[in-house]
Amino acid sequence: MAKFKASRTSEISQMEKEHMELVRKMAAECMVLLENDGTLPLSGIKGNIALYGNGARRTVKGGTGSGDVNSRTVINIEKGLEEAGFCITTKSWLDAYDKLVSEAKAQHMKKLDQLSEETGVPAGMLLMFDHPFKEPQIQPVSIIDVEKSDTNTAIYVLARNSGEGRDRFNQEGDYLLSKEEIDAITILGKEYDKCIVLLNIGGVIDTKELKKIPGVNSVMLVGQAGNISGLAVADAICGSTIPSGKLVDTWALDYSDYPSSEGFSHNDENVDDEYYTEGIYVGYRYFDTFNVTPSYCFGYGISYTDFKLETLDVAATEEAVTVTVKVTNTGKLYRGKEVVQIYYSAPAKEIEKPYQELIAFGKTKLLEPGESQTLNISFKTTSMASYNEKRASWIMESGEYFIRVGNSSRNTKIEATIIVVQEAVISVINNLFQNEYPLSEISSKGVKPYSYPKEESEKAASKRIPIDTSKIKTEKIIYQGEKPVYQPLQSDQKLTMDDVIAGTAVLEDLVAQLTITELAELCVGTSRGGIGSQSVIGAASAAVPGAAGDTTSLMLDDRNIRNMIFADGPAGLRLNPHYIATKDGELLSGGEVFGEVEIGNSHAKEIPEDALHFYQYCTAIPIASLLSGSWDIELIEKAGSIVGKEMQQFGVTLWLAPGMNIHRNPLCGRNFEYYSEDPLLTGMCAAADTKGVQKFPGIGTTIKHYAVNNQEDNRFFSNSHVSERALREIYLKGFEIAAKTSQPMSVMSSYNLLNGIHTANHYELLTSVLRDEWGFAGFVMSDWFTSQNISFLVGEEEHKYPISSSPLCIKAGNDIQMPGCQQNVDDIVEAVDAKENSVPYPLTLGELQYCALNILKSVRQSSCYEGAKPYREQFGELPWIMKVE
Ligand code: BGC
Repeated sequence: MAKFKASRTSEISQMEKEHMELVRKMAAECMVLLENDGTLPLSGIKGNIALYGNGARRTVKGGTGSGDVNSRTVINIEKGLEEAGFCITTKSWLDAYDKLVSEAKAQHMKKLDQLSEETGVPAGMLLMFDHPFKEPQIQPVSIIDVEKSDTNTAIYVLARNSGEGRDRFNQEGDYLLSKEEIDAITILGKEYDKCIVLLNIGGVIDTKELKKIPGVNSVMLVGQAGNISGLAVADAICGSTIPSGKLVDTWALDYSDYPSSEGFSHNDENVDDEYYTEGIYVGYRYFDTFNVTPSYCFGYGISYTDFKLETLDVAATEEAVTVTVKVTNTGKLYRGKEVVQIYYSAPAKEIEKPYQELIAFGKTKLLEPGESQTLNISFKTTSMASYNEKRASWIMESGEYFIRVGNSSRNTKIEATIIVVQEAVISVINNLFQNEYPLSEISSKGVKPYSYPKEESEKAASKRIPIDTSKIKTEKIIYQGEKPVYQPLQSDQKLTMDDVIAGTAVLEDLVAQLTITELAELCVGTSRGGIGSQSVIGAASAAVPGAAGDTTSLMLDDRNIRNMIFADGPAGLRLNPHYIATKDGELLSGGEVFGEVEIGNSHAKEIPEDALHFYQYCTAIPIASLLSGSWDIELIEKAGSIVGKEMQQFGVTLWLAPGMNIHRNPLCGRNFEYYSEDPLLTGMCAAADTKGVQKFPGIGTTIKHYAVNNQEDNRFFSNSHVSERALREIYLKGFEIAAKTSQPMSVMSSYNLLNGIHTANHYELLTSVLRDEWGFAGFVMSDWFTSQNISFLVGEEEHKYPISSSPLCIKAGNDIQMPGCQQNVDDIVEAVDAKENSVPYPLTLGELQYCALNILKSVRQSSCYEGAKPYREQFGELPWIMKVE
């Protein structure tokens, strides 16, 4: 029984309370004020409010799927406003919509229950993948509603929800506002003096129609802020917490403006192959270079107050560039925080360059009216290098590098010109991602980029700083070769983890003693049941119910090899909030939940009277795309610490988060789980999250989904065709930053193929780049069911590409396959035992030992054993790429 660490009482704990308070404060700071004519904040006004919209009562706290956190309660916006002292006078409108949704949902679930009985697939899974619930459209707002509301202030909450397994659509009610929404907001704009629109969304939506509606006074992106959403929104609206977020993506004027829109996912009816023809021109890199005007640019966000930015100095050497900026709150009424953003423009000699790229950023403290703060923002000079595919090198070409300082990507001033007299080759590596088909990428040759009137004069007037790059030493990567085979010591002693801990043996000796089957077991997760038992997706771990999986405990008794437990994220820790065990500690099956729906079995029909109840209420933190909006690395580290503390509390070893795929296209169903369209912001956020978690002893993060998992439709079989340069500069860059600067304990490979090879089977991706080039020291796990028979999820239908191969996972360095099945173990054992060429992918013993060793190293360092240290302590000082002082 002692194996369960969950709470025995359902009462709210002190930790939960503290975490909710922390989240409340940080969430409001991530929100982005898009429009405001002075209507917000509603400070001092605590009267009637007319509240409308699909997110007013049914506020979305985070997206669906494995990224959904089972929190105790969700405080919706209606409740949040009431707690702040407002009186909601549109209850009848809200009740009517509620009824509409409840009825539609009940009908939908009835259908799914039937289907579930026929197919044996849990209703929750059907809901998640092929049969999502579509909210009914809102009912109109009538003049009677307006009159009854007895106020001059209206708030409309527009919500969108999405999740894994499905991409969004460029359609009304999804990316586009529906006619009903436009009509409702139009009435609000006309009938009320103050009309505020709040966007309770996880990804970008179209704002073209919204901008046309007369009478809208304020628009705020409130995102999906977790279980205290309503409180944080009320704080931001009233100005008790000042929203100070900035957009993490470019919001286009029209969906078709995104360069990937035509071929993205289902848009071209081809979900098998995704051609990344826009190359490096993702997000603002495209909009700026090709001079396309966005609706809201990357980095945009206003405040209740105004700021003045003065660049006091730019200093540069071949090592670092430091920009000193004084920020003053020039407003008279409100406090506020500002984000200083630094971009650079590199010379395009041998290869094309984007108009500009984010290179560093820093956020001020809360500045009182009239108050100033000086920030010293530094970045590594060599971060301005680009990847030259022909020369397989990271190179800083000679020429002028313009340093732009401002508070959004389209509001900057050129403050310095760094002159690189002599080309610098930063590192020489191998091109490792050959394309199977020639990929014809767009080119900016001859295209006039975005500019602004003073740009040329700023260039001329900027401080010119020559730097001597001759001192930069070129890094040369040595790629590892064949894996050695560890031979058992000449001794009969059976080694255990205790010997390793005592220092009388090393892990390599222990590995050498393990049989091929034992090694294979270490490299496969423990789920062995079928659907409906303990192994429903993302809920396979027995020791911590609701955790997604664990490593083997088969060698617990004879070798004291304990098992690590993995649980989902990224918007908090995903566990079953309530489970039941017999008094002898035997877990009674069932009770797994997805959102509001119970999946798998219900709790066992016959619960013994003396059964024990356990509770694991976790905090739903803001979704990643809202957290990143803070542009505040310290804040994100704090968010990581909230999760770290809960992991410690409930006995979870690894958090299956942060997610860090690039927002290549706004329709990716999982963008809410990821940070941004920009790799630097993405990498810095993931590193901060990791640092927050990994300061607790023996626990860690899993950065995912590595890599180019930018589409959800057909996610197990879609093939991303990407150039080596786009990969390295855009899609791998964030992972590189997080791996090098924070050393996450684990990396999760993705479902998709990359240039024809499943990422879980991709040696170059998982070993050559991750370990040899970046020095990653943890272990790699597959995404769930990547190398398993998934007909229960996707049907028997033939797919253009096969699933990934179990032995090839081992060969590539995908150390563990999750959640794992007996077939995985059998396939691996067969591949090692095989006579030459008798199986498609023979393995050497050394290759299998290598993966098992990577797992054991993490097990050894983890909280599975008493006295574990914070994982990162073993690495000493980690490299940095940007910092603020
Ligand atoms: C998701 C992962 C998640 C895993 C375990 C998969 O469906 O893609 O992000 O960590 O399930 O729940």
